[in-house]
Amino acid sequence: MSTNTIEHNRRRQDFSGVESIWLFGYGSLIYKVDFPFLEKHPASINGWARRFWQGSHDHRGTPDAPGRVVTLIEQPGAICKGMAFRVSPNVFEHLDVREKNGYLRFSTTLTFESGNHAEGLVYIATEDNEAFLGHAPDADIARQIAQAVGPSGPNSEYLFRLAESLRTLGDECTHTFAIEAALKKNG
Ligand code: SIN
Repeated sequence: MSTNTIEHNRRRQDFSGVESIWLFGYGSLIYKVDFPFLEKHPASINGWARRFWQGSHDHRGTPDAPGRVVTLIEQPGAICKGMAFRVSPNVFEHLDVREKNGYLRFSTTLTFESGNHAEGLVYIATEDNEAFLGHAPDADIARQIAQAVGPSGPNSEYLFRLAESLRTLGDECTHTFAIEAALKKNG
C-alpha cells in the first residue's frame, strides 16, 4: 500500500447521517489536539500494544532521515490507554491529512474508566505500509529518534510529550519508557 493514505481513508467509512464519532488517540493525538471535539475522556482498547515501529517522513523526520512514531500491534491481553474524543465526522478531513503517512482508520471498542464501552475509530499504521519500520532494539530506536527532526519538530519532543501524557494517564507503557530512558542516557 502506498504511504499516502488520504484517499484510502476517505473510502473506508460511510459517515452519512452520523452526527458524532468516538476517536481513540494513543500517540500524538493525546497531546497535540489541533482539532475541535465535543467531549474527551481517558479510555483504553484491548488487544493492542503501542510500538515506535512506524517511520515518520512528514512530521518528525524527512524522507532521507525518517523519525519513528507509534503505531499499534496486535497483542492478545495487552491494554493500551489513551484519550477518547467525540468528534463530528468533518474532523476526519483534517485528521486524514495529519495521519496520511501510512495510517488507516479502523473500528475498535473503547472502554472508558467508568467501565462503559463505545464503538470508535483509531488510526493504525499496519505493517504493509511503505513507511513501516518494525522492531529494533530500544537503544537503536532511541538513537534514531535523537537524530530525527521534521516539519512538526524534533522526534525527541514527540517521545517526551507522549511519555509525559502516558504518565498522566497511568499507562505503564514499558516500551515507551524504555526508549525514553535510553534516549536520556545516551542523548
Ligand atoms: C494517534 O495518536 O492515535 C496516532 C498516532 C500519532 O499520530 O502519533
